[in-house]
Amino acid sequence: MRAAVVTVSDKGHAGLREDASGPVLAELLQGIGAEVVATRLVPDEQDQISAVLVELSDETRVDLVLTTGGTGLAPRDRTPEATEAVIDRRVPGFGEAMRAASLAITPHAMLSRAMSGTRGRTLIINMPGSPKACRETFAVVAGALPHAVETLRGEAHECAAPPPRQESAGPSSETP
Ligand code: MTE
Repeated sequence: MRAAVVTVSDKGHAGLREDASGPVLAELLQGIGAEVVATRLVPDEQDQISAVLVELSDETRVDLVLTTGGTGLAPRDRTPEATEAVIDRRVPGFGEAMRAASLAITPHAMLSRAMSGTRGRTLIINMPGSPKACRETFAVVAGALPHAVETLRGEAHECAAPPPRQESAGPSSETP
């Protein structure tokens, strides 16, 4: 899986805050065997966010883009809008799952408007901005990423998970 990480942060872009979340996501991606081929740091400007998503999807042709930041209610938060402007299909399950699982951690989870979708053969997933939130939300979606990418490439032949191995209780259990 070829992946990219986009940090959306005015302060990070201006050099006023170190980008801790981008490196966290890159490390987590590498931990599931992904190759992180690009990292970007952009300000909370809708057009610039959209442009980098288009570049990573259409030119770099990564399988997956994870964005971090700009999903909340602050006046300049525009990552979901920038994403929605460039995707051709929504994949609401990622945002739904992240918000649902994160509500067990903080009621502020409902403030993230994280959006996800596909652009061509690239899956784009928004995540909240803090390193803590990145770790928590990555843990929620990680299990679905390989199959998502496989499906998007048209390579998934079997959606059903293999049945769990049955512990044999003896020869009689083998026959119905
Ligand atoms: N989700 C998880 N799992 N953990 C968190 O700490 N923080 C929330 C929310 N989602 C949080 C979370 C907060 S405080 C905000 S404001 C929103 O994500 C939006 O964050 P963003 O604007 O940095 O994207």
